[in-house]
Amino acid sequence: MTLRIGISESAKRTTALNTVVCALILLAVTAGSASAQFPDLLAFGQQPRIDEFRNSLAPNVGSPDHAIERMLQVANLKPGETLYDLGSGDGRILIAAAKRYKVKGVGIEISSSLAKQSAEEIRKAGLQKRVKIIHGDFMKTDLSEANVVTLYLATTANETLRPNLEHYLRPATRVISYDYPIPGWKAIETSETDGYQGAAHTIYVYQIPASLKK
Ligand SMILES: C[S@@+](CC[C@H](N)C(=O)[O-])C[C@H]1O[C@@H](n2cnc3c(N)ncnc32)[C@H](O)[C@@H]1O
Repeated sequence: MTLRIGISESAKRTTALNTVVCALILLAVTAGSASAQFPDLLAFGQQPRIDEFRNSLAPNVGSPDHAIERMLQVANLKPGETLYDLGSGDGRILIAAAKRYKVKGVGIEISSSLAKQSAEEIRKAGLQKRVKIIHGDFMKTDLSEANVVTLYLATTANETLRPNLEHYLRPATRVISYDYPIPGWKAIETSETDGYQGAAHTIYVYQIPASLKK
């Protein structure tokens, strides 16, 4: 017998994200030995995909559109500012921010296919002068130009990323994290997204203090 419990769409996304995070960790751990045992896995130019798995800190599960809207509202964006989306997926956050708030956008995405796809969406939207995608690892990227950083990773990924945020980000930079807090940081604001069927997701708003020692 199958037990059916009503799970909201947003709860399903979180569950899906957590499941994929586990699968990703498993893949990253096994990728090296798997490629040695099964050289055919590396055929057809697949080597970069294994490297992408190794360095990936979160799977591709996009933020829902209503959450993107709320994240951008609480980010308090001003025209001309620069938003960095770390792990920019399909680029929807950057496109929405550039269209609605007239900001510049930089997305950093480790997946070559997503980086390509999002760059194409940006081009179709005519935003290529203001929004760019860096195909790379946000752990190896200078973030110092950001006024706002958006994240939809996982708590452990946020913890790994935190020293880089502290190293690069200037005082007053806002960091908006969907669904997962940044361990060791105190949010200046939290906001619940409109839940579907009653469940709500938290958006954490942080701001780099003037006194942060570098
Ligand atoms: C949960 S998705 C979020 C996508 C988008 N920011 C959104 O909210 O819709 C996380 C993204 O981070 C990317 N990613 C994971 N680790 C990364 C890394 N080290 N550097 C760059 N991108 C990474 C994944 O490929 C995935 O597209």
